[in-house]
Amino acid sequence: MSNRKPLTLHRLREMHAAGKKIAMLTCYDAAFARVLDEADVDSLLVGDSLGMVLQGRPSTLAVSIEEMAYHTGCVARGNRTAWIIADMPFGSYQESAEVAMRNAALLMQQGAQMIKLEGGAWTVPIVRFLVDRGIPVCAHLGFTPQSVHALGGYRVQGRDEAAARALRCQSEELAAAGAAMLVLEMVPASLARDLTNALSIPTIGIGAGSGCSGQVLVLHDMLGVTGGEPLRFVRNFLDGSAGIAQAVRQYVTDVRDGRFPDDALHSF
Ligand code: KIV
Repeated sequence: MSNRKPLTLHRLREMHAAGKKIAMLTCYDAAFARVLDEADVDSLLVGDSLGMVLQGRPSTLAVSIEEMAYHTGCVARGNRTAWIIADMPFGSYQESAEVAMRNAALLMQQGAQMIKLEGGAWTVPIVRFLVDRGIPVCAHLGFTPQSVHALGGYRVQGRDEAAARALRCQSEELAAAGAAMLVLEMVPASLARDLTNALSIPTIGIGAGSGCSGQVLVLHDMLGVTGGEPLRFVRNFLDGSAGIAQAVRQYVTDVRDGRFPDDALHSF
């Protein structure tokens, strides 16, 4: 067993201030939580991607708060030191800040240490409401999977100047509202680097290039067991490795050393 101390928000801020990259992976159960924690992954994201990865659904939209609470509890029981973030699923925070608070509490009671919610300006009052009540919040901009239909499919966001400006504005508003972390999904690498440099909170990229403060991948994608066409921003770390633990360690090392993502291969 490693002798790593439990990660805290304070420690994550210190890592960010020191320029140390944050390695995050999605995780949905206790067995993988143990493996990822032992492999030194900094943060486990109980993503609503579980709707697609575990449940075989076409999108994340049908995932319920009860399912998120169940998987968060599973991950928390397998984990010892990694920082646990749980996704607020579609429909669990859009209605009002009070509803968001009630649902965030369900995830925190199962062992989440931070919750993540998707969206721009309209989420700012919700973020502030949760943060004021002691809930660490990770925001999520760029391609936001819960808006897949509104966005017209899986598309890179922020490509033109107006869209880039909107993302810049939203990221600053979310940080000012108290978001302590920001996931940037499928945005051009140069824009993600600019946003990261302009913000005082860490950005975690997925398909957003090497200029972010950390990286996240869907666990099953980086182990090559998702099926279908591999996504441009994913590398299969199990390929050529001796097993899952080694593949995950390689991911952590490559994120920390800036070898993943490779902007020439994995970015937009
Ligand atoms: O649900 C999820 O796995 C996510 C990541 C893709 C960032 O939100």
